[in-house]
Amino acid sequence: MYKINIITAFPEIFPGSLDVSILAKARKKKIWDLNIVDLKKYSSQNKSMDDKPFGGGPGMVIRADVLQNAYEKAKIFFEDYNFENVEKIMLTPDGEEFNHSIAEALTKKKGLLIICGRYEGVDERFIEYNNLRKISIGKYVLCGGESAASVISEAVLRLLPNVLGNEKSKLEESFVNGMLEYPHYTKPRVWNNLSVPEVLLSGNHKEIRKWRSEKALYLTKKVMKKNKKNDS
Ligand code: ADE
Repeated sequence: MYKINIITAFPEIFPGSLDVSILAKARKKKIWDLNIVDLKKYSSQNKSMDDKPFGGGPGMVIRADVLQNAYEKAKIFFEDYNFENVEKIMLTPDGEEFNHSIAEALTKKKGLLIICGRYEGVDERFIEYNNLRKISIGKYVLCGGESAASVISEAVLRLLPNVLGNEKSKLEESFVNGMLEYPHYTKPRVWNNLSVPEVLLSGNHKEIRKWRSEKALYLTKKVMKKNKKNDS
C-alpha cells in the first residue's frame, strides 16, 4: 500500500480532492492510505509554532524543534516500511519544479512524507537535518504548501497501478513522451454550429492516429511558445 503522510498546521484542508472519485475508490481498495499530522499539536503555551526570523525581516518562521516533534510522530505511520524508501518532501516555492517525470519517479517509492510550509517559511535547519527534498509546484507563491501537497499527491496517486479505470489512458495523456495530448470530442456531432472534425467520424484509424499526432505536435509547439514568452 502506498502511504502519504502530510504535516500541516491546517489539517482541515485534507483530504479534500484526495478523497473523491477514483482516488476515494482506490483508497477503499487499500491501494493507498493518507494520514495527517496536525502541526499545531506540537506547539505549547510556552513554545509557539512560529517565531520572528533571526536577522529581522517580515513574517514568522516555523520553529525547527516544533517541526521535528511532528516529524518524529509522522515517521510512525511508516513503521512497517523502510524509511529510506519514503520520499521526504518540503514544499516551498524555492524547490525544484514538480512535473510529470518527478510524479512518475515518486510512484516507485513506498510513500511520501510531505511537510507544508506556512508564513514566511520554516527554519532551514529542519530541512537540512532531515535531508528533505525541496519541491515547488510552480513559479508563484501560495499562502502555504497545502494545495501543493494535494497537487503532488493527486498527480502521483493516479499513476499507481489499478487507480485509473483505464490503464491505457495513462499512456496517451499529456506530458507522456514530452507531448501534450490531442483534443477530444463527443456527442453531439454539431454543437452551437461547431462540428466534430470529419476525420474522427470516418472510422479510418490510420487517418485518425495521423490527425491526432499532428494536432498534439501543433498544440505542444503552440503552448511551448506561450510558456517561453510568459517566462521571459
Ligand atoms: N508554498 C508556497 N508556495 C509554494 C509553491 N509554489 N510550491 C510549493 N509550496 C509552496
